[in-house]
Amino acid sequence: MNAVYALAQAAHFLCLMLLFGGGAFALLLKRQGRAVPSGVFTRNEQLGLVAAALVLTLLAFFHTAAAMSGEGLFRLTPGVTHRVLFDTRFGYMAAVQFALLLGLLAILLLWHRSVQAWCAAVGGFSLAALAVTSHAAAAIAVGGAVDAVHLLAAGFWIGGLAVLLRIVMRDKGGDGRLHVLRTFSLWGTLAVAALVVAGIANAMIILLPAEGAPSYSWLTLLGFKLVLAAFMIALALTNRLSLVPRMAEGDTEADQTLVWSMTAEIALGVIVVILAGFLGLSSPMAS
Ligand code: HEM
Repeated sequence: MNAVYALAQAAHFLCLMLLFGGGAFALLLKRQGRAVPSGVFTRNEQLGLVAAALVLTLLAFFHTAAAMSGEGLFRLTPGVTHRVLFDTRFGYMAAVQFALLLGLLAILLLWHRSVQAWCAAVGGFSLAALAVTSHAAAAIAVGGAVDAVHLLAAGFWIGGLAVLLRIVMRDKGGDGRLHVLRTFSLWGTLAVAALVVAGIANAMIILLPAEGAPSYSWLTLLGFKLVLAAFMIALALTNRLSLVPRMAEGDTEADQTLVWSMTAEIALGVIVVILAGFLGLSSPMAS
């Protein structure tokens, strides 16, 4: 297994999750008619995320094309590249994803301001498109759709939480952030519920139709991922059910604890996504 590529794949997931989740959460706040608090992603941050996603999309394309053709990455010929690009669903999705990200880069460069709705739309499409090469998509026809829901729900959780943490840190003591926290509590809970249901369905789709025994290393990676995901959910529940109500009553200690708890939740999320990068590259079945 190529560890460097697994890490690149995790970075790809994370860039698109921040674009999608950060943009979608900023849009939700905007829809409520209040001034959008400072802390949502700025134009320069969006530019950085889009540029990184473009490079990682190219890397994913050439790496997968090399794997499909059985050639090494540096032995890919223009003919093979052309066939993967035009004759496979993966190639088509990668081309659309690249074109949309390039369009988003142009909008950001020409517009000179942040564009939350475009980031949510292009980031969301590109994130869901990564499900085309998932193990679930290879197992059954609807597997790709289930994996796409899993990715989008995880993206909203991680991207939205990153924006929320900045708002809470910048708006110390302000009234507006309680409202922002409650908005995230509602939508974040829906996202986590969808993530868990789609994650369990994902595992069943991969394991149930397969013949033979599951691979020990795949199951171990999945096991670690589930334990960390359970810690993330426990932190999210503590924030929602204990810390936010205490903050609403003016408990200043709860403020600082909430910042630490959200930071830990994001750190665990990054590790979970790195494990997902390795899971995607290891075979679920013992050979
Ligand atoms: C109950 C919790 C969860 C379950 C049961 C679950 C299950 C799964 C399964 C079975 C896969 C497919 C692995 C493969 O293709 O080999 C997967 C992929 C993935 N999971 Fe989860 N997961 C959970 C929580 C999370 C969380 C909390 C995150 C991130 C915050 C996350 C992010 C991902 C990502 C990025 C992928 C890769 C998708 C792809 O390759 O297309 N998961 N998950």
